[in-house]
Parts: sequence; structure tokens; C-alpha cells
Amino acid sequence: MNKNYEKLLRCLDSVRKKTDFVPQVALILGSGLGAFGYEVENPTVIPYSEIDGFPVSTVPGHKGRLILGQLGGVNVVVMQGRVHYYEGYSVSDVVLPTRLMGLLGAKTLFLTNASGGINPDYRAGDFMLISDHIMSFFPNPLIGENIEQLGPRFPDSSEIYSKRLRGIIKRTAAENGIPLRDGVYCQLTGPSFESPAEIRMLSRMGADAVGMSTACEAIAARHMGMEVCGISCVTNQAAGISPNPLSHEEVQETADRVAPLFKTLIRRSIINIGKAGEQ
Ligand code: HPA
Repeated sequence: MNKNYEKLLRCLDSVRKKTDFVPQVALILGSGLGAFGYEVENPTVIPYSEIDGFPVSTVPGHKGRLILGQLGGVNVVVMQGRVHYYEGYSVSDVVLPTRLMGLLGAKTLFLTNASGGINPDYRAGDFMLISDHIMSFFPNPLIGENIEQLGPRFPDSSEIYSKRLRGIIKRTAAENGIPLRDGVYCQLTGPSFESPAEIRMLSRMGADAVGMSTACEAIAARHMGMEVCGISCVTNQAAGISPNPLSHEEVQETADRVAPLFKTLIRRSIINIGKAGEQ
């Protein structure tokens, strides 16, 4: 059997030994959002270290726990902390948690992250609904022997971020008076922030925001037929747009500052996604 699939099944077995809970929505929490995990009602909490073969994050500010429970009546599985490619994991390990949440039964993947704003209109603290992505500079998570049990060799990418879910999130933001931008997210490997010349290049290519996560998880989730949506918190203006040097501290500070509003937007969006039912 495919080694990555074997590993995935081992993780699934570890979780299934602890709970038979079936989530509807899988939520991945990005920088500054970790505390959102505590809002899950009737939680079953599983530290990543207790899931056989599961990658464990090394980034400050990223906890490592899978939380299964309810958010306003919707069954969710929440990843409190994710792993990144720049930590040295293979890209198949980076997307393993996403695939695991899909195998647990989640039909929807809700992605969140922190990003640098490339679009000159964007300011630190803005939220951007991801309408599409550019992942051409990042290794595709589907490279290698295809896992036939999950999905096809050559999956379509014409609507990675579901139009239906985007509509629900836009409505939710408008109803709650939360400004929400709409743009293209580009994933690079990091961990160094981009140079101003790279940001000018990405801008010409049509990217509105740049970060070090998310798009590869979206690809893996679509491959296995999940419906995907994502919101990015623009924590800083990208290099060369901002007059200041970039730092992880600035990213965390902004993410923490806007976290209450971000949490409201995510919580209400998930409730509305739950109400609307599955595709
Ligand atoms: N670049 C890449 N990743 C990021 C940034 C950035 O400016 N801000 C937050 N994550």
C-alpha cells in the first residue's frame, strides 16, 4: 500500500480509538487564532503527540491539539496549530492532518492563516476571503504515487475555494458589519519573508496576499472531494510596501489584536455553513 496512505490510516486508527465523533466542518487555525479552540463545546481534545505518525509543530504560537466538538450546534474538528513546510516536513506530512480530518468525515474544510498584504489597498488587520490561489512556487502535495483511495491523479483546480461557501461567508461578514476583502492568496515556502522584488513579481502575477501555508492543504482537500473555503488575516503590508522590516512579532501582534473579530467571523460563518447543509 502507498506509504503515505498507510501512515494516514494509522493516524485515523489512533483517533478512532479515542472517539467515534463525525465532524461536518474541519477548521485549521492560523497564527493568533489558537485560543479559538477553547470555544468548542463538549470537546474531545487529542494532543498531536498521541496520534501515531502525526507531525508536531515547532512554531511559537502554534499549539498542537486536535479538538472535536460543536460550534453553535455544528460538529467540528479543529486543528489548534498546524505544521509548515519550512519546519522541514515533507509536503505530504504537511497535508496529512487535512486528509485525516477528511477521513474522519468532514465534508468542508475551513482554512485560516496570516498573510502579508500585496494589494496596495490592504492594511494590517484586514480580513481577506480567499477567492483563488497561486501555488506555482510551492511543491504540489499530490506529487508522488497517487493515493487512489483519496482521489484522481489529475484533479481539477478551477474552483478550489467553493463559490457556494464564499457566498455564505460574504453574507455572514456583511450581516455582522465585518469588512471582508476578496483576493488571491499566494503560498511560498518561507521561512524568510519575501524580498521587495519578489513582492513586485507576485503583484504583477495577480496575488493580493502572500503566506506560508494553506494552498497546499486546499489542494489536498479538493483532491479528496472536500468543499474548501479560507480567510486570511492580513497581519502586515508585504515587504517593500511596508516601510518597516518584517517580523514574526509584528505578525503575532496584529493577529492577536484582531483575533476577537476574526473569531466572530469564523464562528458565525461556520454556523451558517452548518445551517445551509452540505453541498
Ligand atoms: N509574508 C509571508 N508570510 C506571512 C507574511 C508575509 O508578509 N505575513 C504573515 N505571514
